[in-house]
Amino acid sequence: MRKMIAAGNWKMNKTNSEAVEIVSKLNELIADVKGVEVIIAPPFTALSDVVKVAGKVKIAAQNMHWEEKGAFTGEISPIMLKNLGVEYVILGHSERRAYFGETNELINKKIKSALAHDLKAIFCVGEKLEDRERGNTENVVEDHIKGGLEGITKEEIMANVIIGYEPVWAIGTGKTATPEQAEEVHAFVRKLLTEMYDAEVAGNTTILYGGSVKPANSKALFSKENIDGGLVGGASLKADDFSIIVRNAL
Ligand code: PGA
Repeated sequence: MRKMIAAGNWKMNKTNSEAVEIVSKLNELIADVKGVEVIIAPPFTALSDVVKVAGKVKIAAQNMHWEEKGAFTGEISPIMLKNLGVEYVILGHSERRAYFGETNELINKKIKSALAHDLKAIFCVGEKLEDRERGNTENVVEDHIKGGLEGITKEEIMANVIIGYEPVWAIGTGKTATPEQAEEVHAFVRKLLTEMYDAEVAGNTTILYGGSVKPANSKALFSKENIDGGLVGGASLKADDFSIIVRNAL
């Protein structure tokens, strides 16, 4: 069956030394936790050192290029991540889509490249406020899922893809989707996966909720049938807060 996961996306926060300190502390705080996979995505600059103190915390990158190497100034490749011992990579985050022009097509290339290099993809989808207000949530989520997963096989998705549903209006705004709103979209994603693949894929794929997940609201969100944990921004920057969120995924 699918796993429960608590993943922290640090975005452009924390220096290398701060990152090492927080991940070390988090490791101590969750030493006794079993049954929840804990992932932290620090900035690229901290990956190499954080991997060394990660212990039971799995390490993710926040982005990558799809090529292995070449003239792509400022980019980081899957083989560079793999060489550091990074296991996961977040792809298609709404901030990448909004500020860096990432399209479904480009995200699809990145997911294919991650899987080809044995990196697990945390693939993000989600609607903007205006989409929700116009009743377009399901259309947008469907477009993201179908575009991002095009050409990805059943075996690949089952082994190496996690989906993050992150309504853009809830990211960093303090506005969380209610557990019911989130559950509705998660159930929709599972239905889509059944149509695109089959019931086995739908039942086994971990779908995380992201958007202002906090210690106080995480339990209610994670208790929903189709919500398999969280992708957490702001509240993952403090080891204490994030360790509470991890325990709420138990
Ligand atoms: P937030 O960010 O928890 O700060 O809202 C979530 C995310 O962008 O993954």
